[in-house]
Amino acid sequence: MNNPKRYLVTAALPYANGPVHIGHLAGCYLPADIYVRYLRAQQRDVKFIGGSDEHGVPITIRAMKEGITPQQVVDRYHAIIKESMAQMGISFDIYSRTSNSVHHETAAAFFKKLYEEGLFEEKITEQYYDEKTNTFLADRYITGTCPICANPKAYGDQCEKCGTALSPEQLINPHSALSDAVPIKKSTKHWYFPLQNYEPWLKEWIIEGHTEWKNNVYGQCKSWLDNGLQSRAMTRDSNWGIKVPLPAAEGKVLYVWFDAPIGYISATKELTPQWADYWCQDDTKLVHFIGKDNIVFHCIIFPAMLKAHGGFVLPENVPANEFLNIEGEKVSTSRNWAVWVHEYIKDFEGAEDVLRYVLCANAPETKDNDFTWKDFQDRNNSELVSIFGNFVNRTWVLMHKLCGSKVPPLHESIMDDKDRALIEDISKAKDKVEKLLEEFKFRDALFEVIDLSRKGNKYMQEKEPWIVVKQLAENPAAQQSIDNCLHLCLQLTANLSILINPFLPNTAKKMLSMMKVVDKLLDWSNAGKIKLLSVGYSLRAPELLFRKIEDEEISKQIEKLKSGLITATAENNQAMPTSTNTADAVIPKPTIVYDDFAKIDLKVGTILAATKVEKADKLLQLEVDLGFEKRTIVSGIALHFTPEEIIGKQVVVVANLAPRKMKGIESNGMILMAEDNTGKLHFVKPESVIEPGAGVS
Ligand code: 2FM
Ligand code: ZN
Repeated sequence: MNNPKRYLVTAALPYANGPVHIGHLAGCYLPADIYVRYLRAQQRDVKFIGGSDEHGVPITIRAMKEGITPQQVVDRYHAIIKESMAQMGISFDIYSRTSNSVHHETAAAFFKKLYEEGLFEEKITEQYYDEKTNTFLADRYITGTCPICANPKAYGDQCEKCGTALSPEQLINPHSALSDAVPIKKSTKHWYFPLQNYEPWLKEWIIEGHTEWKNNVYGQCKSWLDNGLQSRAMTRDSNWGIKVPLPAAEGKVLYVWFDAPIGYISATKELTPQWADYWCQDDTKLVHFIGKDNIVFHCIIFPAMLKAHGGFVLPENVPANEFLNIEGEKVSTSRNWAVWVHEYIKDFEGAEDVLRYVLCANAPETKDNDFTWKDFQDRNNSELVSIFGNFVNRTWVLMHKLCGSKVPPLHESIMDDKDRALIEDISKAKDKVEKLLEEFKFRDALFEVIDLSRKGNKYMQEKEPWIVVKQLAENPAAQQSIDNCLHLCLQLTANLSILINPFLPNTAKKMLSMMKVVDKLLDWSNAGKIKLLSVGYSLRAPELLFRKIEDEEISKQIEKLKSGLITATAENNQAMPTSTNTADAVIPKPTIVYDDFAKIDLKVGTILAATKVEKADKLLQLEVDLGFEKRTIVSGIALHFTPEEIIGKQVVVVANLAPRKMKGIESNGMILMAEDNTGKLHFVKPESVIEPGAGVS
């Protein structure tokens, strides 16, 4: 679309069933924010829409596991996610939520319109049903043993341990996740949206009409369309969600993927009375930023829904990113293999821009990419500190030293080729960055900005004002050469602040403060120019833009990641305590009654022997004296303690935990541990040595 009048930019609504991790940021929030900040700097009319996706099965499962209501789950995580987004500078115009009433009304009205126009098919099918709790079970609610890897906690749609997609029929020993009942099949009525009716239109619109979409997006759409579309149920049996607005639809709610994208519309309604200009005028450019697992919903299902409804604009582009792995492994929230945004913010206070930098410089734009803490440190130390930060700092220090803390004049008569080349580089950089941002090539655009600062360093190195100053005594005219160098370096700094602003807004702010100028300087129309700072204007003292990140900080993070993993893994194996490291553990658990607590048999034990478990670098096999008997306990503490240092130590043991095999060894109990905020584990033990077998209550 040439010259859209307004932009509507959305970023996928995250499920409010857990905090956000850096994969979420890299996947869609950061690119969306960079794009929006750039558009705003261009003075374009743009609304940036976000919010929490608060319906769906994962939320009800979490509520059930924790013994709280789904509303309590979403209230908790909506607040955490909203806060993390704000702290990372994701500048939504609104961050809404799908449990609110505007959304319920909007989504129900949308459904009703399609229903009244006869656009749904009603079908009665056989679904799994739990007779104990009288509930229809989505595939997720059925658990059993995975036929591939024997994980006893596989879901009816997927085994999270080995990643295999499953159907409930494949599970060994299937049972309801709500009760222990073996599910039966029962018939139920649902409303299906016949996607196949929209296939010819979708083919024309995407395959012929949107060849400019990113290859990963276009390719996935083509493959769905080539395979042929089918009717998809747009309702579910549940009591958490938006009630189906029809008579005789008791216990039925809208499918979460029907209601969630309508959330973009509801949030815009909440934001502005002019919402319809954004959603219903052809000269709006609608762009959905998402992760690759959302492609079919945003490129096929939601557009077909919008088309069926009529009156709404369709997305002009859906720049989906691939996934970001961590230290070579896929992110897994259940295994706690993730870098949580709220924890990063706590650990690296004031370094939000560094994370934005690394996630953009290494964004999974065309293929899955890997985040490593080492790369994070290298990019900070050798790009942000040594190139960008160093250039700005040198410019400031020399300007104060050699030019009386003021912007020196530019003496055109003595300008040389190097000066002219730098001016040209500034103008070219602006054009390149702009073109790349318009094409959603954020990492290349960021590279150009850093490259421009690299050119600034090179220019200064060649001009050597610190050497030229020594000639002043014999040749006072040499001051002109110093002036020109610093004048251009200062104008380059002003340009860098404009160009870096969409990516690193806090850094741009610091630069504005050093230049003693107002936000207006950051207007994109100022980029590429060299008359941004007036001659004679006095400037502030330099502020350090970035600090070096030390090896210890990095090893601490790597250890934290690994200990979070062993804790989560062992937790799944019921052989370790909960961790303050896991995202869940920062949040208090729901209240239990005394009887729940009284079921746990806690005993003091003494460790008699400890050996490393072969082929398991995290596990130790312990022999523990419980007074009345000796027990073998396998514990995931090998990264924290050597076998030698724990022999003779007293511990508290959960003595009545069902036995579990770990690496072929039967573990008969669990050792209680406390974890401090650095991720280090400590034994929980009596104050002084007492008889093994003593009860703990
Ligand atoms: O994948 C997810 O996290 C979904 N909650 C995204 C929904 S995007 C939109 F449709 F709301
Ligand atoms: Zn499996």
